[in-house]
Amino acid sequence: MKTILITGCSSGFGQEIASHFLARGWKVVATMRVPDEDALPRSEHLRILPLDVTNAASIRAAVEQAGPIDALVNNAGIGFLNSLEGTPLEKIREIFETNTFGTMAVTQAVIPQFRERRAGVIVNVTSTVTLRPLLLLSIYTASKAAVNAFTRSLALELQPFGIRATLVLPGYAPGTRFGENARAQMLGIPDEYAGMAQKIFTAWEESTDPVTHATDVAEAVWTSVTDPGAPAFLPAGADAIAWAAARTPGQL
Ligand SMILES: NC(=O)c1ccc[n+]([C@@H]2O[C@H](COP(=O)([O-])OP(=O)(O)OC[C@H]3O[C@@H](n4cnc5c(N)ncnc54)[C@H](OP(=O)(O)O)[C@@H]3O)[C@@H](O)[C@H]2O)c1
Repeated sequence: MKTILITGCSSGFGQEIASHFLARGWKVVATMRVPDEDALPRSEHLRILPLDVTNAASIRAAVEQAGPIDALVNNAGIGFLNSLEGTPLEKIREIFETNTFGTMAVTQAVIPQFRERRAGVIVNVTSTVTLRPLLLLSIYTASKAAVNAFTRSLALELQPFGIRATLVLPGYAPGTRFGENARAQMLGIPDEYAGMAQKIFTAWEESTDPVTHATDVAEAVWTSVTDPGAPAFLPAGADAIAWAAARTPGQL
């Protein structure tokens, strides 16, 4: 029986990815900043461990307690929307600490066991916002685009050890707690940019375009982990697939 460790399982995609793998006979180490035994269906194959991806001691402890794993999914992340001018550098660092450095730190912690066993898969969840520029998302997009570049280069250095590193790019998923969590991160948007922000919120509320569902992301992660021939990056969700098809040739 194979084991997968997933970050950010308290809600949204992480929760769905954990359920998906449990239902298909995997052992799941579902990690959360604050462990919640009720976040997932009870199973003898499920372990819930505390893990804050911004805390080195927490990463070390979780990886140690998890024991040998076959796959890692770096899903934990925070959304953020504001102008660059309206965002203190300290807040920008906070976003990068979770979305970018958190992904690197957890990956770094599992590589030794993967390398020793000459097997293992790392799936990093980024976003289709990295495929085209969007208003007031410069900071969030940069934090995720860095993970795209990191993953593609990392895949090359890990390939000789039999380790795969791939990307899953979800589209817009209003069904998760992401939007709500992102709003909590937002400080005051400067008056000069308030009109832009309002336009974005109204467009989201009024949109009838296809969106991404957590199940789309779970399926894309499943393919990335279980199919050795899976593409280096997989869009997840109807909108994500359309965005990926329309991207600039050579991008990603
Ligand atoms: N929803 C979207 O539209 C969308 C689109 C593209 C990509 N994404 C990406 O998909 C991933 C999952 O997002 P989601 O939509 O499922 O949002 P979500 O419901 O807000 O889930 C995010 C998860 O990340 C966790 N997290 C945040 N900071 C953490 C930290 N320092 N250490 C460990 N866990 C932490 C949260 O835990 P807490 O409960 O402790 O806060 C939560 O479990 C994120 O990386 C996000 O950037 C989302």
